[in-house]
Amino acid sequence: MKSKLIAGLAVVVVAGVGAALYINGNTRADDIADNQLRAADSPAAEPGQIRHGAYIAVQGDCAACHTAPGGKAFAGGYGLQTPFGVINATNITPDRDTGIGNWTERDFFRAVRHGKRKDGQLLYPAMPYNAYVKMSDSDLHDLWAYMRSLEPVKQAPAPNTLGFPYNIRLAMLGWNLLFFQNAPYAPVAGQSAQWNRGRYLVDGAGHCAACHTAKNALGGDTSAYLQGADLLGGHAPEITNDAHLGLGTWSSEQIQRYLKDGSNDTAVAAGAMGEAVEHSTQYLNDADLADIALYLKSLPGSGTQAPAALNASSPVMQRGAQVYENNCMACHNVHGEGINGMVPAFANNPGMRASSGANLISAVLKGGRAAATESNVTAAGMPSFGWKLNDNDIAAVLTYVRNSWGNAAPGVAAEQVAKARTALKASNPL
Ligand code: HEC
Ligand code: HEC
Ligand code: HEC
Repeated sequence: MKSKLIAGLAVVVVAGVGAALYINGNTRADDIADNQLRAADSPAAEPGQIRHGAYIAVQGDCAACHTAPGGKAFAGGYGLQTPFGVINATNITPDRDTGIGNWTERDFFRAVRHGKRKDGQLLYPAMPYNAYVKMSDSDLHDLWAYMRSLEPVKQAPAPNTLGFPYNIRLAMLGWNLLFFQNAPYAPVAGQSAQWNRGRYLVDGAGHCAACHTAKNALGGDTSAYLQGADLLGGHAPEITNDAHLGLGTWSSEQIQRYLKDGSNDTAVAAGAMGEAVEHSTQYLNDADLADIALYLKSLPGSGTQAPAALNASSPVMQRGAQVYENNCMACHNVHGEGINGMVPAFANNPGMRASSGANLISAVLKGGRAAATESNVTAAGMPSFGWKLNDNDIAAVLTYVRNSWGNAAPGVAAEQVAKARTALKASNPL
């Protein structure tokens, strides 16, 4: 309770300082020149432009948040769970009353790239404008043309449930001042066009850092860029070229296959990444996927040293081996090699060695479903074991898979499993 209060006060203080500095001449241009904008009454966009805009919406994964499960596309209603409360994504169809039908293109640019609503209020960074600010004028023009071409849907947005002081939008001034870099994508000289394209997609529309970069207490990115982050009830692993925790042991083709098919010969995307693959990365063209892989492989990353693996003859490892044989081997295979394109391997799969075992605990307690993609339509399921295995057994089996077949990682404690069981509202052994 206390630490939350302190964090809260920090936001208020930061907001005050932020407001003062902001008023004192933070005059960076926040949008584009008038003559660059399409007039509100300009003729309908060309089909090619709308098609390209649809591709930009896929790159940005706008539907992921702006479409509720089972709801109408882009009509809002998806609630984002944040450590500060629930923030609802809004209706961004061209409906005049409940959507953005009476917005100008400038309003749209301001919202997507600068986090400002039409009424001048600030958006919460749950909307990843701090990444979208890198998107180019021409990509945003086409995205706007596409958004205008959508069917209007009348659906009022649900209210947010943020507690004080997070419900004060002015606090975002301070957040922006601290964490928002109001700058377009700047190509890095000396790097190839492909590398720059990869970085543009990762840092801009793809907003990969939103999940893969750890956050500080105020929700801003830390400097551990793409080096893994805990999400609520999960973990997004390091995706740099680090050999132990990142993609160092994956080839560029393995990365591309994972993003396109939702799986490769070692890993299967599920949970938040399964959704990102289903809505977004599977639709990226081969050149863009190759450029993303090239860029990720160029990042040195955390340089994490592999710890020594636990001794296979220790009691916890022996117990884990037993649980594995009885419950997991049928699918994950005899030597943890999984089933290509269906069941993730434990061997040679960096995600399994992540410092946090949160993903693994959640998969075993609640089960999961692999991404279903056009190229891999059968989404294999991981059954839940919450009802069958107790905390000690789950801790032991995960400690075992994290320290077998060439893996080495901190063990998983029964207390961690117990905590996750409560947090995830998983069932208990009968
Ligand atoms: C990770 C989730 C997420 C993604 C991805 C996302 N948005 Fe948002 N967006 C939000 C949330 C949440 C809000 C409301 C924030 C608030 O209330 O402060 C929002 C607000 C907006 C608004 C302001 C609407 C209004 O009525 O004020 C626009 C416009 C918008 N988003 C467009 C987009 C576009 C275009 C994309 C894709 C390029 C996109 N969003 C992707 C979460 C997301
Ligand atoms: C909404 C959160 C989210 C976003 C956005 C996101 N990821 Fe992920 N990503 C995850 C999670 C969670 C996992 C772990 C999935 C699993 O274990 O099934 C993951 C796994 C991965 C993996 C596999 C790593 C491994 O060791 O198994 C790669 C590669 C990856 N993401 C790349 C990307 C790229 C590239 C982007 C941006 C285009 C991106 N991700 C955006 C959450 C996200
Ligand atoms: C019926 C087949 C099946 C059985 C039995 C099974 N799994 Fe899985 N498992 C899968 C599939 C398919 C996935 C991929 C979907 C997902 O991640 O939710 C998966 C995913 C996982 C993951 C998540 C990997 C990641 O990328 O984060 C872990 C951890 C895991 N299983 C552990 C186990 C353990 C431990 C057992 C035994 C107690 C077990 N599984 C039994 C099929 C199975």
